[in-house]
Amino acid sequence: MGAEQSEFVLEARGLTKSFAGFLAVNDVSLRVRRGSIHALIGPNGAGKTTVFNLLTKFHRPTKGDIFFEGRNITSLTPAEVASLGLVRSFQISAVFPSLTVLENVRFALQRQLGTSFYFWRSDRSLHCLHDQARQLIDAVNLTRWLDVPAGELPYGRKRALELATTLALEPRVMLLDEPMAGMGREDIQVIAALIKRLAENRTVLMVEHNLSVVASLSDCITVLRRGQILAEGPYSVVSQDPEVMEAYLGKGDESRD
Ligand SMILES: Nc1ncnc2c1ncn2[C@@H]1O[C@H](COP(=O)(O)OP(=O)(O)O)[C@@H](O)[C@H]1O
Ligand SMILES: [Mg+2]
Repeated sequence: MGAEQSEFVLEARGLTKSFAGFLAVNDVSLRVRRGSIHALIGPNGAGKTTVFNLLTKFHRPTKGDIFFEGRNITSLTPAEVASLGLVRSFQISAVFPSLTVLENVRFALQRQLGTSFYFWRSDRSLHCLHDQARQLIDAVNLTRWLDVPAGELPYGRKRALELATTLALEPRVMLLDEPMAGMGREDIQVIAALIKRLAENRTVLMVEHNLSVVASLSDCITVLRRGQILAEGPYSVVSQDPEVMEAYLGKGDESRD
């Protein structure tokens, strides 16, 4: 089918999710271009996290289909889609607080590279693992924090560590749910630069509230409201859309986080 070459790496068609009759996601069709940074934005309660949960199979859609690299993944499990390379960044709680930065990343690598215990016992493989971990840690600017227990890291560094452990899974598509949540301005700049770098050889789909981050990072933005797509396109277009302006700046019962 030539799926590997297709322009869109991830596609949702008519995604719908209802919770006890409440339509949290209503007929959302979304295409994520290979190699792009694609942002999903929208007021609180718009359905962003639910879309993420659907794409990564944590929820089963009420209706609709999901395609990854041209393959219908609608009925796969979260672990199966992760092993295909569609990886959601874990929440902070998935980082082990008593393990150091290095140990956390090494553990994530070990998990990814399989369970061949004997392989990992050999000195050479341990070495190789160590080098890989160092590289990942360096990529997220955490070298200075190498031996610090994750639980003692400042907030922004924890998020960076979370990115490193996600990268250890070698994602082709990385899904980030509010990577900047709770961060101060300095951390935001660091993480934004990081995401830009990570996106050089992979695709990123992220939910993010910080509009200036979204504006500077994203190639394409999908705006959700009340479970539906309100607008889509580059920031220059989307930000001029009167309905988007209203959803963000205007009245209504919804507010941004
Ligand atoms: N597991 C659930 N059960 C019932 N309602 C839910 C559930 N998850 C989300 N919702 C509802 O679906 C809507 C969309 O939620 P969510 O996807 O978390 O929005 P967002 O991430 O954009 O803030 C909200 O009204 C929320 O209350
Ligand atoms: Mg959310």
